[in-house]
Amino acid sequence: MVAFKVTTVKSTPFDDQKPGTSGLRKKVKVFKQPHYLHNFVQATFSALSAEKVKGATLVVSGDGRYFSEEAIQIIIKMSAANGVRRVWVGQNGLLSTPAVSAVIRERTGHDGSKATGSFILTASHNPGGPTEDFGIKYNMENGGPAPESVTDKIFENTKTIQEYLIAEDIPDVDISTVAVTSFSGPEGQFDVDVFDSATDYLKLMKSIFDFQSIKQLLANPKFSFCYDALHGVGGAYATRIFVEELGAKESSLLNCVPKEDFGGGHPDPNLTYAKELVARMGLSKTSSPGEPPEFGAASDGDADRNMILGKRFFVTPSDSVAIIAANAVQAIPYFSGGLKGVARSMPTSAALDVVANHLNLKFFEVPTGWKFFGNLMDAGLCSVCGEESFGTGSDHIREKDGIWAVLAWLSIIAYKNKDNSGDKLVTVEDIVVDHWAKFGRHYYTRYDYENVDAGAAKELMAHLVKLQSSLDEVNNIVKGIRSDVSKVVNADEFEYKDPVDGSISKHQGIRYLFEDGSRLVFRLSGTGSEGATIRLYIEQYEKDASKTGRDSQDALAPLVEVALKFSKMQEFTGRNAPTVIT
Ligand code: G1P
Ligand code: ZN
Repeated sequence: MVAFKVTTVKSTPFDDQKPGTSGLRKKVKVFKQPHYLHNFVQATFSALSAEKVKGATLVVSGDGRYFSEEAIQIIIKMSAANGVRRVWVGQNGLLSTPAVSAVIRERTGHDGSKATGSFILTASHNPGGPTEDFGIKYNMENGGPAPESVTDKIFENTKTIQEYLIAEDIPDVDISTVAVTSFSGPEGQFDVDVFDSATDYLKLMKSIFDFQSIKQLLANPKFSFCYDALHGVGGAYATRIFVEELGAKESSLLNCVPKEDFGGGHPDPNLTYAKELVARMGLSKTSSPGEPPEFGAASDGDADRNMILGKRFFVTPSDSVAIIAANAVQAIPYFSGGLKGVARSMPTSAALDVVANHLNLKFFEVPTGWKFFGNLMDAGLCSVCGEESFGTGSDHIREKDGIWAVLAWLSIIAYKNKDNSGDKLVTVEDIVVDHWAKFGRHYYTRYDYENVDAGAAKELMAHLVKLQSSLDEVNNIVKGIRSDVSKVVNADEFEYKDPVDGSISKHQGIRYLFEDGSRLVFRLSGTGSEGATIRLYIEQYEKDASKTGRDSQDALAPLVEVALKFSKMQEFTGRNAPTVIT
């Protein structure tokens, strides 16, 4: 057993280590500065209570992006020096964010140990590579992201840090082979346990879904399937789950080899970046020849996000969570006892609200970011939740879950086709259109202005807050722009009081609420790594079933015009078009 001693290394603070919506995200070159990662890791250890460090078991893995391997080796050495007992690493350093959450909650080590936390190395859907992004976040014992009380402490620590601890004698551990390697330090034994990335997650999925009925669906000649991992970590699960377990053809998997630069692409499952899938599904101008598959899905770099598509048909994430909630009890064994409640983030459309109302379910509207769902789930108040930003999930873990969402949709399609002996499949589009007919449709779009000058973005937000002081003035401006939109009846900044712990989160987005249920929401992104990103969310409710079949950009055009003009978007940002429209 290699012995190690603990070295104390002097350091000085960096002033830019404030964790955002999902941890600390920066360009790789920032993370590569001497001591930069070390400071953040030490600041995290110092923010945790002693028993979560000394003698503890931690998971360290991520989406495999560039710099991950180096970071894992550093965290292993720092964990040993800080008295951690074991570090669990997914083979090749790969674990999807939802799989990390599952491993914390479900895995028992060969010596009976359980993990109490995790460093997840990912910048999610941001590109990877030497000139792109890296990220690190800490998840807690419940498998969910650290709450603000902890991330605030981490940030405070980064501002005063003077030194960190590291076990420099520990050689780099081979993380490509499943094995346990032990070392001996001043406080006793330290183990690095490299384990198979998919086993625990697969076991959990099998306990939630009826794999047999999904298998039958995939074998149905009327059905066809396609999944695109965008070269993210989802690829590490796709072959095991979709091909080996469920019998999908190898050829139904796209970009399923994880790459440290995501093949040069932007691993974000939306209509702009999932180009190959979008073409295959018949949704782009350069669509692939031949008949598109009946079902297509993609996930992001760390496989917590998902996009669901039907043949030539896009399912908005806001509709997706509403449809999953509406069908969960019948279609997914895990929910057969009923849903405890449902929740969505504030900017997500109100499609879920209508389902909750109809099924008489507890309903919660929380700020953007998955951590707010965790408290509700831990308190047994919420089973299914989602965000408009391609995040969907349930209380099986404390993160959103891309592959879970795919399996949920496959379960719903299987359920809808259970007694269908006709020659026509009940398609994704049929399921969505039926849902609209029953519940009405929430036309929805999001405009993102990426990498805008940070000062200009702040000024725009200040302008929008100032306008809120007089609804009369707002309505005069709105009417002056378009006379065919409804009246603004409420305008505020979203504030949330957590019903479980009473904590209050302020300034969670600027809202303009209209009399007919339409909404405009403006937010600054908390996950960007450069400049500012302004997000504008636009929504309009249509109850009349005969009007739910319009093109959503057409239906929303008047509201979009109002939003852009009264926010003075072009004046403040200099942009005459958004970077991405979803
Ligand atoms: C974005 C999404 C948000 C999601 C987060 C992490 O955050 O909008 O819904 O939880 O990524 O995936 P934002 O950049 O808007 O702060
Ligand atoms: Zn992600």
